[in-house]
Amino acid sequence: MDVAAITSGPRSFVPSVQQPEPFTLVIFGATGDLTGRKLLPALYSLAKNQYLPPHFAVVGVGRRPKNDEQFREETQKDLSTFGQQKVTADFPDIFGKHLYYHPADFTTAAGHQSLAEHLKVLEKELDLPGNRLFYLATDPEYFALIIEQLSVHKLADPQVDRPWSRVVIEKPFGHDLASAIELDKTLERFLRPDQIYRIDHYLGKETVQNILAFRFGNSIFEPLFNREHVEHVQITVAETVGMEGRRGAFYDHEGAMRDVVQNHMLQLVAMVAMEPPATLKARDLRRSKLQILRSLVPLSSNDVPRRVVRGQYGQGTVEGKPVPAYRAEQAVAANSNTEAYVALRLEIDTWRWAGVPFLLRTGKRLPRRVTEIAVQFKLPPLRLFRTVECEGDFCDLTETQPNVLVFRIQPNEGISLSFSTKRPGMNLDLLPVRMDFDYRNSFHVELPEAYERLLLDALRGDATLFMRSDELEAAWEFVTPILQFWQQHPPEDFPNYAAGTWGPAGAGRLTEGCTGGWRYP
Ligand code: BG6
Repeated sequence: MDVAAITSGPRSFVPSVQQPEPFTLVIFGATGDLTGRKLLPALYSLAKNQYLPPHFAVVGVGRRPKNDEQFREETQKDLSTFGQQKVTADFPDIFGKHLYYHPADFTTAAGHQSLAEHLKVLEKELDLPGNRLFYLATDPEYFALIIEQLSVHKLADPQVDRPWSRVVIEKPFGHDLASAIELDKTLERFLRPDQIYRIDHYLGKETVQNILAFRFGNSIFEPLFNREHVEHVQITVAETVGMEGRRGAFYDHEGAMRDVVQNHMLQLVAMVAMEPPATLKARDLRRSKLQILRSLVPLSSNDVPRRVVRGQYGQGTVEGKPVPAYRAEQAVAANSNTEAYVALRLEIDTWRWAGVPFLLRTGKRLPRRVTEIAVQFKLPPLRLFRTVECEGDFCDLTETQPNVLVFRIQPNEGISLSFSTKRPGMNLDLLPVRMDFDYRNSFHVELPEAYERLLLDALRGDATLFMRSDELEAAWEFVTPILQFWQQHPPEDFPNYAAGTWGPAGAGRLTEGCTGGWRYP
């Protein structure tokens, strides 16, 4: 069953949003993975769709020597490999000519001094007003240092409003609650809060924003979003990838709890559980999310073993290909106890959600790449349909299945609602069916990448989809005791799932009382 988009206008994107003012975007870590895979393709796409103003400059800063021309050529290659948009012949004109490279060691004062001088000359030459967005796509250990230097060299000045200067920081924001608070103190010493953009790319995903649109733009579902009607909520972030490339070096220090649960997954919890915000402005939206994050029921050391399951993959087969065990991956310690899988059962102590289990699950090397939020409703109070009638080898399943509302974040982005219907025929048999809304089929467009939306918002000064320090700290407050418990109690059973399976068997016990157990989307 399909749901078509009901629209009277043309079904294509028209860039009706306001363009940012002319700007200089400085990317620290210009030769890194994130820049090539995500940031430059996102900027190219924005340029191509005319979301950027005619005057702008993107300045890559990195330690490797390179000139503007090389940077442009390499970018063009990266765009062909990683970009969603086809690279067209007008690349040099719409994007290439705006790219510059400045070789500098951003860990030193001299590096920042030379950058300050370079920007001054470049902005004069290009007649740019000096609005600057600094993007920290570096190793997190340099965040505090770069921010201090930006302030010392007046590259980002908290005393000056116009031209504006802003700083985008990538996760991880700290390693635990204490280090997150420490990082925040540094930020606040050198920048105004409105200059800081903490990015969680999940919030830029079209389908994550659609949770808000769906919940608060319709009247029929929201009255059901509470403990009266919802049996449980299940959030899955499953990945097929392992530690390809140099990823293991970073990941082995982080693990799934820090890498995905603390940020992306708890943000998804907040989006699906929050109260309607007073307005859609940054302050109100963040306030509603914060209420949820602060209401997560803390897990004591008694709770952790019962409510949280960690896992690490052994060798196995993913999408038909044999893959190594986590401990045999490049740049991973041979005796690593880092978790590549987490499942947990949490509760939110609010009037609306008290007692409703939220089951969260994420892992690498699972059978399928899928991110979804499934809201599973309670079974009807009167179980009229619950017999299984067999005649010979043939059984009629007449049992009622729960209604499930699924937000498919990726892939096949969309929303589906399952319900029971009568199977055609002479018996009164039930059959679960689905109403399905599919973004691509309904709107006939490619969805913008998360980084496109977030970069554009940061350039326009809209912090709505960025995280505030108190949200982050509330998330760390929930997660840190679990990490501490794990540190004191190293896992005894790693590896405890084969790559290509749905994770450790122990995760099954978390679903107690939840009809149907874990989903296998
Ligand atoms: C990143 C994590 O933040 O999110 C990665 O560091 C993870 O480990 C990625 O693979 C998942 O993002 P997406 O958009 O592919 O779901």
